[in-house]
Amino acid sequence: MTDTVAEAGAPPRSSMSVERATGFSDDDLAALCEAADAAIIDGGGFGWVNPPGRMALERYFKGVLLVPERTLFLARQDGIVVGSAQLVRPPRNNEAQAFSANLKHSFIVPYARGQGLATMLTERVEEAARALGYQVLNLDVRETQEAAIALYESLGYIRWGIHPAYARVGGRTVRGICYYKLLQPGGRVG
Ligand SMILES: CC(C)(COP(=O)(O)OP(=O)(O)OC[C@H]1O[C@@H](n2cnc3c(N)ncnc32)[C@H](O)[C@@H]1OP(=O)(O)O)[C@@H](O)C(=O)NCCC(=O)NCCS
Repeated sequence: MTDTVAEAGAPPRSSMSVERATGFSDDDLAALCEAADAAIIDGGGFGWVNPPGRMALERYFKGVLLVPERTLFLARQDGIVVGSAQLVRPPRNNEAQAFSANLKHSFIVPYARGQGLATMLTERVEEAARALGYQVLNLDVRETQEAAIALYESLGYIRWGIHPAYARVGGRTVRGICYYKLLQPGGRVG
């Protein structure tokens, strides 16, 4: 399913859409890797602190599509891939947490930020998780990722904890902030 916002009227605004990825065209994979590279260089990657290079990014994203627990979502601006996010389901052996999933590795290329794309991306991941019957969506961010913190708090994510040794960036230990959101109507678990 594709969600598209293409607003009419002047001045013309770019079209934005989010879709679940089931495969990559060469152009989409190239755009995704370029967007990821730019986001990592900008300082807010999805784990990477230094850009790993084009081949490694291509292998990474192709690999994500093969992992049974992961679903990749792509954000597009005017048809070009400008970001992505992953819905990560719990492994089968994790019966105790079978009701919860994780939102991970969300990013938008710097030039396409501030237009609502990450909001669309997050809401699409929530919708997919809800449709699969998950009741809780968990995520965590570095405490330095101020835009992400504002984004998730604006979307109703509840801050439940601080991880004191969450990440190492530039030789410095960075704290992490942990969030959850109840997905089902009424916000109940059960
Ligand atoms: C966080 C990120 C995904 C936001 O993407 P985006 O497309 O610019 O976000 P949106 O346009 O949907 O913004 C939605 C809300 O987030 C908040 N927000 C976004 N950018 C912000 C910024 N630079 N400063 C403060 N708040 C910000 C605002 O509340 C905003 O709502 P508003 O526009 O009504 O004020 C993007 O900045 C990014 O890729 N950052 C680096 C990677 C990262 O931190 N990923 C998340 C954790 S893995």
